[in-house]
Amino acid sequence: MADKKDFLAIDDYSTEELRAILTLAREQKPLAREHRLPHTHPNRILACVFAKPSLRTRVSFEVGFRQLGGETLFITDKEIGMGTRESVHDVAQVMSRFCDGIMIRWFDHQEVVDLAKYATVPVVNGLTDLNHPCQVMADIMTVEEHLGSIDGKTVVMVGDGNNLANSWLNAAIKFPFNFILACPEGYLPDEGIMQKAEAAGASFMITHDAREAVEGAHVIYSDAFYSMGQEEEAVKRRKDFAPFQITGELLSGADNDHIVLHCLPAHRGEEITDEVMDGPHSVVFDEAENRMHAQRAILATLIG
Ligand code: CP
Ligand code: NVA
Repeated sequence: MADKKDFLAIDDYSTEELRAILTLAREQKPLAREHRLPHTHPNRILACVFAKPSLRTRVSFEVGFRQLGGETLFITDKEIGMGTRESVHDVAQVMSRFCDGIMIRWFDHQEVVDLAKYATVPVVNGLTDLNHPCQVMADIMTVEEHLGSIDGKTVVMVGDGNNLANSWLNAAIKFPFNFILACPEGYLPDEGIMQKAEAAGASFMITHDAREAVEGAHVIYSDAFYSMGQEEEAVKRRKDFAPFQITGELLSGADNDHIVLHCLPAHRGEEITDEVMDGPHSVVFDEAENRMHAQRAILATLIG
C-alpha cells in the first residue's frame, strides 16, 4: 500500500498536516464528550500492542477508536513475541491481514520503524524509548486550549532528556515556540534529534539550571525521573534529579499565567509536589483527556 501513512514521530509531518490533526481534535472534542461523534470507522480494527504498562495510552486509544465506531484488540508483547517468537517482518505482514491499524508501545524505536516499514496498514507510535509523539500532540492541544497558539510561547521541561524531551524537540521543528530543557548533566536528549532540531533552526536550549530555565516560562512540563525500563536506576536518578523537582517555589519566577503539564503517571513528591500537581496552574487532567482527542484525530486521519 504505497500511500499508507504512519505516525512515528512528529517531525515526519508537515506543520499543515499537524495543524489539521489538532483542528480535527479540537472540533471533535465537544462531540465526543456528548457522545455525538459519527461512526466513521465501522468494522475497522485497531490492534493495540503493549510491551510496557499503560493507563492513558491504552484507554485513550481503545475508547477513542470505539467512539468512531471501530473496535480494538489489546495484545501484549509476550503473546506475539515480535522479534523473538517471530520476525518483525512476519508479524507486520500477518497483522496487516487482520487489522486496519496498529498502535504500539515498545522499547526499541527501530523495531517500530521496521514494523511500520513491513506493515501495509498504518502504525502509530504509542511510546518508545526514543519518543512519545501522541503525548506531545495532546500536550500542544492542551497548551492551545489554555493559552492560545503555542507559537511564540516558552515551554520548559524540567527533568530528564528522555522520550518526551525528544518529542518536544521534534515539535519545535514544526511549531515556532521556544523549548528549554533543564536537566542534570549527563541526561541530555538524543544526540541525533538535537542535531536535527538545530539544523532545522528550531528554537531550543539545554540548561542545567532549573531556576533560570523557568524564568518567564508559559508552560512548565514534567515527567518521571526514570522511565519505564529504567527502574534499576531509580535510586541514582532520584539523587541526580533532586534539584529538578517542580515546586511552587521554583515556579515563582514563571509567567503569571503559566500552566503546568505532566504526561503522567506522576510520582508525587518526587519530580513534582502535590502543591503544584493540585494547584491552580495545573492542567494535567485536561492533558490526559486530550490524549484521546488528539489520538482519535490521528487515527481518523490515517485509517480510511
Ligand atoms: N502518559 C502516558 O503515556 O501514560 P500511560 O503510560 O499510562 O499510557
Ligand atoms: N518517560 C516516561 C513517559 C511515561 C508516559 C516513560 O517512558 O516511562
